[in-house]
Amino acid sequence: MTTLRMEEGAHAVLARNDRGGYTVPTDRLYPFQWNWDSAFVAMGFATFNVDRAYRELERLVEGQWDDGMIPHIVFHVPSDTYFPGPDVWGTRHRILTSGITQPPVFGMALRHVHEAALANGMTDAEVRTRALFQAALHSHRWWLEARDPDGLGLVSILHPWESGSDNSPAWDEALARVPTTTTTTIRRKDTGHVDAAMRPRDEDYQRFIHLVDVYRDCDWDPKRQWAKAPFKVADVQMTAILARATADLMHLAEALGTDEDRAGLAQMRRRLVDGLARRWRPDLSRFVSLDLISGADIEAPTQAGFIPLVALALDGAQQSAITAEIGRWLDGMVVGVPSTPAFSPAFEPKRYWRGPVWAVINWLIADGLRLNGAEDLARRVEQSTVQAIENAGFCEYFDPTTGEGLGGDTFSWTAAAYLALGRRR
Ligand code: DGY
Repeated sequence: MTTLRMEEGAHAVLARNDRGGYTVPTDRLYPFQWNWDSAFVAMGFATFNVDRAYRELERLVEGQWDDGMIPHIVFHVPSDTYFPGPDVWGTRHRILTSGITQPPVFGMALRHVHEAALANGMTDAEVRTRALFQAALHSHRWWLEARDPDGLGLVSILHPWESGSDNSPAWDEALARVPTTTTTTIRRKDTGHVDAAMRPRDEDYQRFIHLVDVYRDCDWDPKRQWAKAPFKVADVQMTAILARATADLMHLAEALGTDEDRAGLAQMRRRLVDGLARRWRPDLSRFVSLDLISGADIEAPTQAGFIPLVALALDGAQQSAITAEIGRWLDGMVVGVPSTPAFSPAFEPKRYWRGPVWAVINWLIADGLRLNGAEDLARRVEQSTVQAIENAGFCEYFDPTTGEGLGGDTFSWTAAAYLALGRRR
C-alpha cells in the first residue's frame, strides 16, 4: 500500500499543477496542457476525484482539430517559460495548439474514468463519456487515415516529439538525416529550468525545429506533411497504445456506441494488431519499429519494444522470451525498467529518454505484463516504481543505476502513477 503522507503529497502535486480543469506537467518547464500527460493524469484523478478526471479530458479535447487530431500541446493561457510557443507552431485551430500529436492514451484513460464514475454512482457519467467517446473515435480515425495511408497496420510519427520519447536512441539514425538548419530562431528555455546534461542536446533541438519549419510550411496539412516528411517512423509504441486504446473504446462502444462504431473499431483493432504482430523479432525478444524512409528495422533497444504487451496476447514462447529480456534489462539496476538498457552503447542514465526510468512507461509495461499472465514481473515493476517515488519524490524520471530523481520535480504524471500503481500493490 502507498503511505498516506505520500498520497497526500501526490494530491498536492496535482493541485499545485492545476490551472483550472487542466493540469500542467510541471510548473515553468512545461506550462501548458500536454496530451498524453493529461491522459495519465486523468487516471490519477480518477482515484479520488472523478469529476476532475473528466474535466482533464474535456479540456484536452478543446484543442482537437476539425480533422480529428488531438495536438500534443494545448496553449490555453500564454507563458514565456517554454520554447517553442504558439508563434513558432503557427497553427490555425480555434484555440492555440501545437501542430503535432502524442500517444493516444486518451482512449485508455476514458475507459478508466468511465469505470470509476460508474463505481462512484455518478449520474452524468454516461453523457460525459459519450461526448468524449466521439472525440476519441474521431481521433482514432485521423490516426489511421493520416498516419497509415498505405495500410501497414502501423501508425507513423513524423516528429520525435510525437513519440513522447523525444531523444530516444531509437530515433538517432532517422534523425541524423534531418538537417540542422532552421528558419526559426531557437531560444531554448528548458535548459534554464533543468540541467542541460539531463536534456536533449542542441543539435537535437536544431533537427526538432527543422521538422516544425517543414510542417508549418505544409500548412499542417496531413497529406502534404506525409509527402514532405524527412522523418517518418512506423512506431511500435505508438501503434500499441493506439491498438490498446481502440480495444478500450470497443469496450465502451458495447454500451455507448452504434453498430457502425463497433464494426469500425473492430476493423481498426484487427488492422493494428496484425501490423504489430509482424514487428516481433524472436532474435531480439522484443518488437521493433520501422524507419519508413530507409526501409530498415530500428533495432536500437528501447522501452518501445515492450509496449506491444498492452495490446497483444502473446504466445507462450513470446511471453517467456519477453519476460526474460525485461529481466535482463532490470539486472543490476536499482530501479527499472530503463528506457535504454545499460548494455547499450547509447545508454546515458541521466539523459531524458536515453536510459532513465519513467513511471508512466512502467505503468504501461506492468499493465501489459499482467495482461499476458506475467503477474510476478508486473508486481515487481510496479513496486519498484512506487519505491523509487517514495525515495526520490515525484520527479520527472529516475536514474536506473542509483534511483536518483531527475528532470523536473513535482511532476503531475509521476504523482498520477503513484496513485494508480500504489493501489495495485
Ligand atoms: C519538450 O519540449 O521537451 C517536449 O517533450 C516536447 O513536447
